[in-house]
Amino acid sequence: MTPKPEGSPDAFAELEARNRRAEEGGGAARLERQRRSGRLTARERIATLVDAGSFEETGRLVQHRSRDFGLDRQRYPGDGVVTGYARIDGRLAYLFAQDFTVLGGSLSEAVAEKICRTMDLAVRQGAPIIGLNDSGGARIQEGVVSLAGYADIFLRNTLASGVVPQISAILGPCAGGAVYSPAITDFTIMSRGTSYMFVTGPDVIRAVTHEEVTMEDLGGAETHNTVSGNAHFLGENDEDCLGLIRQLLSFLPSNNLEEPPRRPSADPPDREAPSLDGLVPEQPDRPYDIKDLIGEVVDDGEFLEVQALHAGNLVVGFARLGGAPVGIVANQPAVLAGVLDIHASVKGARFVRFCDAFNIPLVVFEDVPGFLPGTQQEWGGIIRHGAKLLYAFAEATVPKITVITRKAYGGAYCVMASKHIRTDLNYAWPNAEIAVMGSEGAVNVLYRRELEAAEDAEKERAGRVAAYRERFANPYVAAERGYVDEVIPPRTTRRKLTAALASLATKRDRNPPKKHGNIPL
Ligand code: HXC
Repeated sequence: MTPKPEGSPDAFAELEARNRRAEEGGGAARLERQRRSGRLTARERIATLVDAGSFEETGRLVQHRSRDFGLDRQRYPGDGVVTGYARIDGRLAYLFAQDFTVLGGSLSEAVAEKICRTMDLAVRQGAPIIGLNDSGGARIQEGVVSLAGYADIFLRNTLASGVVPQISAILGPCAGGAVYSPAITDFTIMSRGTSYMFVTGPDVIRAVTHEEVTMEDLGGAETHNTVSGNAHFLGENDEDCLGLIRQLLSFLPSNNLEEPPRRPSADPPDREAPSLDGLVPEQPDRPYDIKDLIGEVVDDGEFLEVQALHAGNLVVGFARLGGAPVGIVANQPAVLAGVLDIHASVKGARFVRFCDAFNIPLVVFEDVPGFLPGTQQEWGGIIRHGAKLLYAFAEATVPKITVITRKAYGGAYCVMASKHIRTDLNYAWPNAEIAVMGSEGAVNVLYRRELEAAEDAEKERAGRVAAYRERFANPYVAAERGYVDEVIPPRTTRRKLTAALASLATKRDRNPPKKHGNIPL
């Protein structure tokens, strides 16, 4: 309750009344409807996300100015969004939470201005922007003014990109052009069953293409986390999504001029992991789970996987080594033999560029048989999409370390942070195979005539394969050239990586001056 000093009871009473009205959002009935739908209210979300008592609200009394379509009788202090700043794990963050109980959280001119002011402050202070989206989109009654408001936000999303981390949680509807704000931000988190995102909804799709699709199948949390790759995290509910934001922020610097926050760990940096010596099966075609390796190597086994449900053949995410955050990019032999395809390339490229923009060193675990063959991939543009990943690794100036655990074949060898694209330290395990292609494929190309002419083709093939393997399926040709700095026993991987990272902590590298490069989009 606001204190009421003697002499100004009316003024304080009015302030109290206005504040109370702001906290009531669209009114008790709508707040109750929101909760019944399985969603928290905007203010409950903020309270759940930030350090207790740290939220400072801005623009609490802002109202829309529209008089059309009865809006003059529907004015709510704060309008359809709650904005302000707070602490998360003691660090400053700016946030906005769309309030669905006020005109469906729709975006008025006033709402857009509040969001833009919040973003401007965040960029000026060098602090992350967190958007909690739950909105029916453009405020229909305001027409083009609302569209202008969206464009103002998109511009700010773009200018803030690479300056401060931007995180979007989709916790209700997010439809039409409104989706392009989350799409520009760095990470999108969706809540299962209560959120959806699409450019055109099921009704328009039915009218135009005669397809029948539910809202959930079209743009629900699972769809965007698995099929489209538009979302990076899937939360079971609002609380889960907000917890994921806190966890994610713990790995990120507040802006592009800061180092990521260190978190000391009791896990010894020189801890050996004997189980790694037996991780990779002797047969080159047998799968294993690269996440077993990641879990063994990083501090306390803590790994926050990004896009865990999309393009599982490439694993990306955040972890710490010796207390310092790193971005991990790893081929996953347990999914499609770890091959690189369109989805994996795009997923990896975006993650690598995020890490590079925010000074997060890259650690690559490589076991890749090459790019996925097939007309679907070729016609789908694997050339330009694969080039994205290559470009991203090549332009990155953060510390880069690669460990080849088994296969490093063909173009994929070059792409996966090879020495040649400015990777600082490259390691290989003793059973690594670094070559233009696998032995069987190589023998088929090189000795087709000999195999056709041979009396016993199988025997001939086996002999040729064995000779090829002997010559090329090892890490030593590369090591002799210096393309691999050291061949290491698997159990020592954590020790090697923590020492390497510490040595690279003062790395300075930069690209030639330019306006910006032209990544093959
Ligand atoms: C104004 C809106 C609104 C909007 C919802 N409301 N959307 N008011 N502008 N865009 C109001 C409703 O009138 C209602 O008011 C309250 O919010 C809750 O809406 P309900 O429909 O009762 O909720 P629900 O059943 O949960 O359905 C949610 C919904 C639906 C699916 C989002 O409201 C809907 O279809 N809204 C319109 C979506 C839309 O077409 N938006 C424009 C998209 S194009 P009361 O008073 O009853 O509480 C766009 C362009 C952006 O956004 C362009 C950027 C470049």
